[in-house]
Amino acid sequence: MHSSKIVGVGHHVPEAVITNQYLTTIMDTTDEWIIERTGIKERRWIDPSKDTVANMAAKASRIALQRANLTEKDIDFIVFATITPDYFFPGSGVLLQRELGLDGSIGAIDIRNACSGFIYALSVADQFIKTGMYKTILVVGAEIQSTAIDPTTRGRNTAVIFADGAGAAVLQRSDNPGILSTHLHSDGNFAEELYVRDPGSSRPREERQPEQILDTTHYKVVMNGSLVFKHAVVRFLEVIQEALAANKMSKEDITLLIPHQANLRISQFIQHKLEFSDDRVYNNIMRYGNTTAASIPIALSEAWGEGKIKENDVLCLAAFGSGFTWASALIRW
Ligand code: ACO
Repeated sequence: MHSSKIVGVGHHVPEAVITNQYLTTIMDTTDEWIIERTGIKERRWIDPSKDTVANMAAKASRIALQRANLTEKDIDFIVFATITPDYFFPGSGVLLQRELGLDGSIGAIDIRNACSGFIYALSVADQFIKTGMYKTILVVGAEIQSTAIDPTTRGRNTAVIFADGAGAAVLQRSDNPGILSTHLHSDGNFAEELYVRDPGSSRPREERQPEQILDTTHYKVVMNGSLVFKHAVVRFLEVIQEALAANKMSKEDITLLIPHQANLRISQFIQHKLEFSDDRVYNNIMRYGNTTAASIPIALSEAWGEGKIKENDVLCLAAFGSGFTWASALIRW
């Protein structure tokens, strides 16, 4: 059995900085409300005339490849996590393949597990490498949420939270295990507690008329915020403990925890429960908002770029989100 290791990380976020102050000009909200409830000060929104999920992913991927001293031609497979693909179908994996100028010799799949998507994608890639099927896999999380949110007072409870960006990691076969273990969970009983109803195929044809499509269910994020919070804090801690137990480690062994950037209050709750100092938990939601599947790879890439990740460090990635799904990965750098 082989092992896999992350050999390069990269990220790309759109140029336009959308401050809380700007949001107060388009909806009834305040800087204080957003910061107090979510910790978010600003986020990035794309320019629809030039950005796509796939081209942001390509920019993040090229940085990751360059840092790994590899080129596009070295990629054997693409695992792409997104809930906001450029098209209803096909997925964005094939569009990234096209953006990178790769021909039809490699495969690409999309993972639609929302905030846990990147860890699921990493786990899938890790299994392919462990079995020997592939040697070098590009693992990506990228989202454009700004074109789907309702940027009016009607949508303010979620519009202030979700944002755009892309992150990528190159996973490669290695003699030294980098991905120590991954742990994946889901509970579909809570599917409708955090979801977007339309355009879903379960909607009958007669309800899919243009005037209904413009109505409030289309792309509208429905979120039972307090229930999500309650489940998130429990599941985050459980899945972190599960990863530690599987590797016979204790929380003291974690050098850096990178939680999915759901909400700063959730990250702070976990940090408090784990009794971790600030330098052991990486957060950047203040600057980027919640970028769903992109949040962990963006944070990973940024933390690496800031010199916060060193060889032999033990990283714990952990996520919770729509599904509900939750997941963790323990990594030796
Ligand atoms: N600005 C001002 N007021 C607002 C806004 C806003 N942007 N959004 C909602 N409000 C108002 C509501 O209208 C409501 O007013 P009312 O009491 O007069 O009816 C009041 O604030 C409270 O609204 P809630 O929706 O109940 O807001 P809550 O206090 O629960 O906070 C929040 C919302 C921050 C999302 C909270 O539920 C939470 O922290 N949830 C955790 C889940 C989470 O973070 N989800 C995001 C990511 S999902 C994921 O990644 C897993």
